[in-house]
Amino acid sequence: MVRGSAAITPAEPESAPPRHVAIIMDGNGRWAAARHLPRVAGHREGARAVRRTIEAAIRHQIGWLTIYAFSSENWRRPAGEVLDLTGLLRQYLRTEIAELASSGVRMRFIGDRNRFDEGIQKDLIQAEKDTVGNTRLNLTVALSYGARAEIVSAARAMMAAVAAGEVDPDALTEDGFARFLSTDGIPDPDLIIRTSGEQRLSNFLLWQAAYSELVFLDVLWPDFDATHFAAALADFARRERRFGARPA
Ligand code: IPE
Ligand code: IPE
Ligand code: MG
Repeated sequence: MVRGSAAITPAEPESAPPRHVAIIMDGNGRWAAARHLPRVAGHREGARAVRRTIEAAIRHQIGWLTIYAFSSENWRRPAGEVLDLTGLLRQYLRTEIAELASSGVRMRFIGDRNRFDEGIQKDLIQAEKDTVGNTRLNLTVALSYGARAEIVSAARAMMAAVAAGEVDPDALTEDGFARFLSTDGIPDPDLIIRTSGEQRLSNFLLWQAAYSELVFLDVLWPDFDATHFAAALADFARRERRFGARPA
């Protein structure tokens, strides 16, 4: 009998910590509905959860964080809600960028930014410019983003490169194709978290998620905090990633 065996915990296979965490921030509407509040109150509270999440990512020394803030399909929502969401985005960009810049966050935006008004488009460019030298956390915000549209747009750019004689179609590799995606230069997400209990990707990073670990949490996005983040990381640490090969 091993004395003090209660203190010995069985060794669990531990994956290397994720380099890149991506989050589908879902459940703002349900959070508001549960409180008999308008949906915009959920979106506003969701913006606070974004702030907490960025801080948690920095504390956990995650190098890359990608957040899904608005999908290309979210334009289908009633005009009033779209206006609320773009208004919050404008406000967020005006009030948070300076602080993010000084905390070492580099910002990038992926998605069809041309669908936003000119003021927002200018703010997005400014945020990227103001933070370009930062290296502590690479934050990518997916806005008016849809993975299928991204892949079609990459295919279009690739075909133009072929027509210009810059790319030899017979020599094209997966990495070569990925260079045409909006995520060029960003590692694939190791872990994708979705809140709200829904278990789907909703057109998020379809190419990049080929071997991501998926964690679905039964928490509505406005309630997401550092403990949920840590729980998702702990779940990830127990996963055995095989990438199609046989376990060691
Ligand atoms: C996520 O919350 C925010 C966006 C998609 C913009 P939802 O607005 O989708 O909230 P639910 O899913 O209706 O609860
Ligand atoms: C996915 O959530 C998009 C974002 C979180 C920005 P949705 O609420 O739009 O997804 P569906 O409609 O439930 O698939
Ligand atoms: Mg939703």
